Amino acid sequence: MKTVICILLTALSFGSCYETVKDRYYPRYHLAPPNGWMNDPNGFSYFQGEYHLFYQYNPFTSQSAGIAHWGHAKSVDLFHWIHLPIAIYPDKAYDRTGVFSGNVLVDNGTMYIIYTGNVNTPGGPNNMQYQALAMSTDGLHVEKYAGNPIIEAKSHQPNIRDPKFWKHEDETYYMVLGNSFNNNTQGRVLLYESKNLKNWKEVSVLAESDGSMGYMWECPDFFELDGYHVLMMSPQGVAPQGDKFKNLYQTVYVIGHFDYETLLFTPITEYREVDHGRHFYATQTTLDSRGRRLMFAWFDMWEDVLPERNDGFTGTTTLPRQLSINSDLKLIQKPVEESYKILSYRLYNGKARSRTSVQLDDNAAMVEIFADKFRDFELIFESKNKTSDVIISYYSETKHVTIYQDGFQGMRRTEWYPKGKLYWMIFLDASSIELFCGEGEVTFSNRYFPEGPITVRIGHSSYAERFTVYSINRTVNVPSMKIS
Ligand code: FRU
Repeated sequence: MKTVICILLTALSFGSCYETVKDRYYPRYHLAPPNGWMNDPNGFSYFQGEYHLFYQYNPFTSQSAGIAHWGHAKSVDLFHWIHLPIAIYPDKAYDRTGVFSGNVLVDNGTMYIIYTGNVNTPGGPNNMQYQALAMSTDGLHVEKYAGNPIIEAKSHQPNIRDPKFWKHEDETYYMVLGNSFNNNTQGRVLLYESKNLKNWKEVSVLAESDGSMGYMWECPDFFELDGYHVLMMSPQGVAPQGDKFKNLYQTVYVIGHFDYETLLFTPITEYREVDHGRHFYATQTTLDSRGRRLMFAWFDMWEDVLPERNDGFTGTTTLPRQLSINSDLKLIQKPVEESYKILSYRLYNGKARSRTSVQLDDNAAMVEIFADKFRDFELIFESKNKTSDVIISYYSETKHVTIYQDGFQGMRRTEWYPKGKLYWMIFLDASSIELFCGEGEVTFSNRYFPEGPITVRIGHSSYAERFTVYSINRTVNVPSMKIS
């Protein structure tokens, strides 16, 4: 009933109906929706001196994804976000049950947007996913192209979505699309080409699952990085293998070479998980004006029912991370350098023995650890809600890093070979934790739900040669509160 009234009021231009959003789990410095539901980040771009981030948004409730709109926010520094009006509504025949994911290309001072229009029919026999073009000249108002859809792809239905397009050598546009083939049993990425953004031709299969990499590949991204090409995508249906692929869905990358003559991609690595935590999906990257390849992910996972749902919002984004490739052909993720500008005073800095503990202010902090890599190390984040405590451990003998939470969250683990010292950088927010190991070759992203103030404690038989805890200033806030 409430949803119906909200839809009516919104339709009558009485503005959006915000559920009351509570502060306890609302991020202090990660972008979250002003209310309602957020999933994939979309259209990450740099336009007229500001970063824009769109996202899959259901303004009517935080309980379900509903019919996706494109939510919209902008920022000068990737941390202080201004919420803008909804950018794209599901109001055309070709997108009426969802303005699904896509990206933005800034070209000649205009934002070009290509997204997927989702059309579900009752019972589903004729579900279709169309690709649609839209434009914005002011970074606020979006106009859909009258000739939409630009790609119908009848033979590739019903799962063909999440375009990522770019311009090559000032003359040709390319686009990757996620698809499912062989009766929806195998995932793949298709490559399309265009001279004018309106007429597209399918030109190759960029990569496909041999059966072991899932039945559908969502949110593909394809970009040049440090002399290689990286294909990143979010496969559904990959079976767990030991410590790997333990989430419901994954986000993976593969590094290789791409030839613009043959339009073929030759992988030179295996498919690897981008992040080893429990909540990381549907990445979106962009190249900014300084030539940095920056990435956001949805900091959540389909089918996890996170308690924030009952606080009036669902979903946040991860920290913006800068990508590079190291000499071992590993993807490196570092918190962008702007992350250091939001650090405030130091709560602790120095050597620390087992049981040294520090209570955080406002449940937001950055923690750094330097320790001997030949000894085990344990770090604990705790609050009154014991089932949410997070234990991060390093086992020097097996070279494993684990992140453990009681209850439904469970344990995630991967191998990590520290090059010098054991070095961890941890960004903690009111309901999230991001661990960067070494230079960023291993990361974990987990949501967690403490009760009351958080304390960080050096664990059993552990010794930190340096333990630093910085407070973090709020850069975002629940809509009713002012940002200082
Ligand atoms: C990934 C995804 C995309 C789709 C969008 C719908 O999380 O399923 O494939 O475009 O979410 O909201």
